[in-house]
Amino acid sequence: MKQVMGNVIVGQSGGPTAVINSSLAGVFKTAKDRGAKKVYGMLHGIQGLLEERVVDLSEHIRSDLDIDLLKRTPSSFLGSCRYKLPPIKGNTEVYDKIFEILEKLEVEYFFYIGGNDSMDTIMKLSDYAILTSSKIRFMGVPKTIDNDLPITDHTPGFGSAAKYIASITKEIIRDGLVYDQQNVTLVEIMGRNAGWLTGAAALAKGEDCEGPDMLFLPEITFDVDEFMHKVAELHKTKKSVVVAISEGVKVADGRYVCELTDNVDFVDAFGHRQLTGTSRFLAQKISKEVGCKTRAIEFNSLQRCASHIVGRVDITEAYQVGGAAVKAAFEGETGKMVILKRVSDDPYLCVTDIYDVHKVANIEKKVPREWINESGDYVTEDFINYVRPLIQAELTPMMVDGLPRHLRLQDVMLRK
Ligand code: F6P
Repeated sequence: MKQVMGNVIVGQSGGPTAVINSSLAGVFKTAKDRGAKKVYGMLHGIQGLLEERVVDLSEHIRSDLDIDLLKRTPSSFLGSCRYKLPPIKGNTEVYDKIFEILEKLEVEYFFYIGGNDSMDTIMKLSDYAILTSSKIRFMGVPKTIDNDLPITDHTPGFGSAAKYIASITKEIIRDGLVYDQQNVTLVEIMGRNAGWLTGAAALAKGEDCEGPDMLFLPEITFDVDEFMHKVAELHKTKKSVVVAISEGVKVADGRYVCELTDNVDFVDAFGHRQLTGTSRFLAQKISKEVGCKTRAIEFNSLQRCASHIVGRVDITEAYQVGGAAVKAAFEGETGKMVILKRVSDDPYLCVTDIYDVHKVANIEKKVPREWINESGDYVTEDFINYVRPLIQAELTPMMVDGLPRHLRLQDVMLRK
């Protein structure tokens, strides 16, 4: 099965997930097994590539044990970036520079592990390759905790973040019951403009847990007064109220709730505002107006780097999409992203396929309205049935000296 191939380059882009390095392992191992000469890694994605910051991955992933450690290592092993390539028209210098660097490295296959913004990079580079008759092939490997990529059933990284969120929400609900005292806890969950992760907090509900009381997803316009009224009503009948709220909820005039405070101003190259502070803002309002103890718990980066509680389904699929991208590119495909197709729910089974990246890039998949209840403050059974298979099974960390062991890039400084 070994074929003699040219060199490969792989990069990671956008926010990390707990299993993003499993996809990197899938690309590296499959490329090596199929005869790639060198597998380069871009440091900090396309931004680092433009500065010719690359490593030969064989010098850093030296054994099967390293591969196993890499899979279990959170955060992007190669470093990431939020870098938007300009439109091709009128900006060919930057593309010429990238292709010059790739040709110097004798790269024939280019893989980018990322979400919808990163697929924009694959789309533009594959378009430019066609324009200039370059033979380099470009493939997207999906990842994002947000689960907002279209076409694919779900994205690797989502399942583990959902598992973390549901687990920790159970623990928080338990903790809220500790004192015989009224209290409201708000948990703030990532996901930008899609509520997949916030909805996953509902999976906390089971025989041993009543689940969160309400969930607020960005798909539904947020009404601060109505929210306050609902909390006050719940508060009359329950000692401990737990509400999950997305970082991306917006009020009717289009502002994020976190913009109602005055402390957020960072905007990245894709125009994404840093979203933080929603739960703190609302908790303070509840303390003041309802008059009870409140806690604001922002899960923040914890939900995307909790590699100690990854889902085995998720980490396995993350590896598979990496391998599938290599296989497809080596067979001649370009300008595509690997997708997951759900073949069956019970038993759960997903297979990989590939899809035109133009139909994926820059498009956000939201939670369908029919998977949110009528009053807009919870998800339906269909939502839960869709997510539940994705959080199944575990992959234990390799524990050394009482702590999970990770793989790190040797002798190379990632940008601080
Ligand atoms: O990549 C997705 C994501 O994790 C979002 O859920 C979140 O809003 C965003 O990244 C945060 O990005 P950054 O780490 O660049 O602030």
